[in-house]
Amino acid sequence: LDGPLDELIAGLAVDVPDYPVPGVVFRDLTPVFAHGPAFRRMVLGLATPESCDPRVAAVAADEGRPPFDLVVGVEARGFLLAAAVALETGVGVIPVRKAGKLPRARIAADYALEYGTATLELHADSVAPGDRVLVVDDVLATGGTLEAAIGLVERLGGVVAGVSVVIELAALGGRQRIAPHAVHALWTT
Ligand code: PRP
Ligand code: ADE
Repeated sequence: LDGPLDELIAGLAVDVPDYPVPGVVFRDLTPVFAHGPAFRRMVLGLATPESCDPRVAAVAADEGRPPFDLVVGVEARGFLLAAAVALETGVGVIPVRKAGKLPRARIAADYALEYGTATLELHADSVAPGDRVLVVDDVLATGGTLEAAIGLVERLGGVVAGVSVVIELAALGGRQRIAPHAVHALWTT
């Protein structure tokens, strides 16, 4: 429990071959979420200032502000993490949702992920111009999902202060796709 966090995550996550489609190895993090000490360490790891762009953090510090004003979580697994990160850091949390779930005026982005296509939405008034936002999800695979979520935040004038994930599947190139935004990953594999 006191060892490296990436080893703790790797030891608890379960690989599921051919889910949800043939050829994909699905990294199931539900056992890591279910493990109290591991969940706590993950949340603290995602909430760390290391998750933030140092340039954005420096501007915030000059203003006497924390490095981010809001946490955005991406449906559905990102919600579990984002709410906990927001609680830990004392800021609010905003959902980026799959299409058709948000009740009020919203903006939308179509995207492709490792095993399909979908649409993400964000309430149009949930981010104000200049708000600094930490974007949180569980897995960075191709980066399609986070690219879409980042695009939604930026269309509302938000500044992405950081992007943090539990697992980065490096071979799928998500980090390159999201550049120049840096990604803070707790386990890169
Ligand atoms: C998974 C995961 C990330 C995304 C990563 O979400 O939680 O959001 O895929 O894939 P990408 O980097 O290739 O875009 P999924 O859409 O399966 O939704 P869920 O959280 O509702 O299960
Ligand atoms: N999201 C996209 N690809 C994934 C994978 N291989 N495992 C878990 N979540 C994912």
